[in-house]
Amino acid sequence: MDFKDQLKSSVDVVGVIGEYVRLKKSGAQRYLGLCPFHNEKTPSFTVHAARQFYKCFGCGEGGDVFAFVQKIEGIGFYEALKLLAERHGIAMPKRSLVADEESKLREAVFRMHELALDNFRANLRGPLGEEARAYLARRGVAPGTIEQFGLGYSERSWAALVHLLEQRGFTPALIEQSGLARRREDGSFYDYFRNRLMFPIHGESGKVIGFGGRALAADDNPKYLNSPETPIYTKSHVLYNLHRAKEAIRKEDRAILVEGYMDAIGVSAAGFGPVVASCGTSLTEQQVRALKRHSEKIVVNFDPDAPGAAAAERSVGLLLQEGMSVRIMTLDGDLDPDEYCKQRGAQAYRERLDGAKGYFYWLADRARARHDVRTTEGVIAVLKFLLPAVERISDRLERMAIANDVAEYIGVDRGMVLDSFRKAVADRRESRIELPKEAVRADEKGLLNVLLSDAEGREELIPRLCEIGILDRLATARIYRAIMAAHASGAPIAFDAISARLEPPDQNLLATLALAEGADAQEETIEYGRQCLESLLRSGERDRRGQLKMRIKEAERAGNLTEALRLARDLQEFERAGEDPK
Ligand code: CTP
Ligand code: MN
Repeated sequence: MDFKDQLKSSVDVVGVIGEYVRLKKSGAQRYLGLCPFHNEKTPSFTVHAARQFYKCFGCGEGGDVFAFVQKIEGIGFYEALKLLAERHGIAMPKRSLVADEESKLREAVFRMHELALDNFRANLRGPLGEEARAYLARRGVAPGTIEQFGLGYSERSWAALVHLLEQRGFTPALIEQSGLARRREDGSFYDYFRNRLMFPIHGESGKVIGFGGRALAADDNPKYLNSPETPIYTKSHVLYNLHRAKEAIRKEDRAILVEGYMDAIGVSAAGFGPVVASCGTSLTEQQVRALKRHSEKIVVNFDPDAPGAAAAERSVGLLLQEGMSVRIMTLDGDLDPDEYCKQRGAQAYRERLDGAKGYFYWLADRARARHDVRTTEGVIAVLKFLLPAVERISDRLERMAIANDVAEYIGVDRGMVLDSFRKAVADRRESRIELPKEAVRADEKGLLNVLLSDAEGREELIPRLCEIGILDRLATARIYRAIMAAHASGAPIAFDAISARLEPPDQNLLATLALAEGADAQEETIEYGRQCLESLLRSGERDRRGQLKMRIKEAERAGNLTEALRLARDLQEFERAGEDPK
């Protein structure tokens, strides 16, 4: 067994995928969730514990645990292997795998970020950090919170971090790629972050991938400086605090979305775990999908000012489009979430949170404030205002329900709202992958599942597959041939190994038979396998008899009596052999 197989057999595919996607048990070995790779309302993303495989029956994505980690983290095979090994405390053999250039670069950039984090944190604790500590104290950030969020301070001098990285042996090329320093015309480097309060930004798996740096002086611009794009940081994919918040998001089945680092920290410190921040950029599809993997419900809590409201409107369009259920939380007193928690207290914030209105009520309120719904023109203007958001709701029933609610809320005739929405709400059907239509017999499916799960059954039954007379006429013929070929070459007969030997249509067929609902309807025992094999053999015999009879008739019709007689004798012998109990 090579390292990859060894690692694979010691990690639990349901546990690993379950950290990224909320899964529900739906069979002895099957788990079901919403696909993280496409937008769907009804779960078709399947993880099979025993087969160590995932498959989405909506978009067709599928693979083993490494394929999943590669795809969801956007990393290469080597890194997926390393990430899983590290997470499970298994040492990577030095020589068995050689990292590619890209992985080596990313690894170096990760290490530089760890060093930078330690350096910034040490600065904040030490004499250099006096001003920053005073700033945090003034803003009411407790020492425990500073520790928890790994806050730090980047010093004033021009190249403190650069020198540290050079000392640790990082080459100029690597330092440049880290985004932690910038190169001057003359080739020398200077620190990207200077004299700033530092907020480490983590990826979902908990590694530091970038920083946000807040100016301490009021006249220092920009107020926030964020890491540039690097090999480990893609701004549009990351939500601040998600790695800490995801547990709470699942448990409470809702996320709170705020605008700023300080908001996320303040709200979290007030006792609200499931808070994430969009970090100043407008929300992206990737960020929404990352949230949706943990909960479909979100409460948007942006700043009370006009840009905040505009940002909320923009974000909400995207959230609806991705099928999230959205509520809007507004705060009074012109306070942002952080200030609100500090000035009014956690209890007041909770009341606001629990009282957050569904998105449409918030939007209708905004529309109503601008237009007079007692006039027809006013109503039309309000409907026009709401229409784009309605169009973005991907579910038809939900759109109807919302039209009803909206009608009642703004006090207009239901019919009128429905009419105006109807044109916009043409059905959008969820696509499904084309599954092979050929009928699969219960016995061929049953035998297949026994072969995939029972080692003893394989030893006994695979050698007998060649006896199945109708093998090549089965819908699963190529799957059985792949199993026989793997067995003959001594290769493993696990689900993924067989799948890897097949073309996509047969891969889908195999997944349907071995992973989809009802795949484990029968017990996968050796005894059941024997029954299925016998049933297939009997069909083969019946088939052979039928063929002989047909050829006898043909010979008779052609007047070839010698041939007809010879075939009749064959048939007799065949039937006698068939009756013979072994
Ligand atoms: N932001 C940014 N660049 C800026 C200003 C803001 O990237 N020049 C981002 C930061 O992620 C910031 C968020 O937008 O956290 C919200 O901005 P703002 O409300 O101005 O900052 P706060 O987080 O509220 O920070 P503070 O309370 O310290 O002013
Ligand atoms: Mn603020």
